[in-house]
Amino acid sequence: MRRKGAGMKLIHLSDTHLGAADLGKRFEMIVDDLTRLRPCNPENHLIIHTGDLIDCATREYRAAARILLDRLRDFGYPVLLCPGNHDYGGFWSVNPHAARDFQEAFSDYIFRDHKATSFPSLYLQGDCAFIGLDSNAAELHCLDRFFAEGELGTEQLFRLNVLLDSKRLQGRKIVLFFHHHPFSFGYNVSPDVGDGRVSSHLFAGLTRPFRRLKDAYSFCRIVRDRVQVMLFGHMHYGLDCSGESMKYGIPLAMDGGSSTCAEAGEDRMRYRIIDLEDMTWKIRFLRM
Ligand SMILES: [Fe+2]
Ligand SMILES: [Fe+2]
Repeated sequence: MRRKGAGMKLIHLSDTHLGAADLGKRFEMIVDDLTRLRPCNPENHLIIHTGDLIDCATREYRAAARILLDRLRDFGYPVLLCPGNHDYGGFWSVNPHAARDFQEAFSDYIFRDHKATSFPSLYLQGDCAFIGLDSNAAELHCLDRFFAEGELGTEQLFRLNVLLDSKRLQGRKIVLFFHHHPFSFGYNVSPDVGDGRVSSHLFAGLTRPFRRLKDAYSFCRIVRDRVQVMLFGHMHYGLDCSGESMKYGIPLAMDGGSSTCAEAGEDRMRYRIIDLEDMTWKIRFLRM
């Protein structure tokens, strides 16, 4: 009997922030690396980008990012994308006009080849189902659009609940991907802030409990015991969060970090390769 996810690998990219500093150049180096790897079956190496593709919502950045994603697709990789807060605006806020522009510009990567243009998105390949969410969806109005902690909203959660029950998904390995972090962080990640920056440590420590999806609790109750892999980004830490997700019966949960290494002082770009058959993973590091 064929095992679920047999032969299928995920390449997890996140938070490339094309447009900031030289991150567009770095993203290009990652694309070069992915095409140099030349897996004999790129169609079985599915690329998932969990948002903050660009640093802020401009036509120029969308066009530049589009060229890089197209290169990956033309090489043979299936590419899936979900939006981050920077894709819908910038650091401080998101807005519905930028959201519409981003979804239109990347609809073939976000919604793939099915007709629907709303979230959750669904892509089926082999015996796996890939579900993309918009974790900005409930923050696109009024004052809620500032600071962008992320909120899926009751409507999207309802649709996700229905989708997870649907016959099309029965017996499949389910991979859920979205941008904002569903878990709180402990103090063990404080060193990532940097030595000697007391104010940054203080800011990170005080705000950390708030920097996760506003409706993370409802979300985790819906997905528990129903999903095998969760991928997300936003915090740029690149942590394996499976210890936390196991509380909800989800074996693998990965924070993609920033593939282009958006943090000052970092010098190693990275992306994660996940084997869906045996549920193991490794990180490929690239020096700049
Ligand atoms: Fe980011
Ligand atoms: Fe983000």
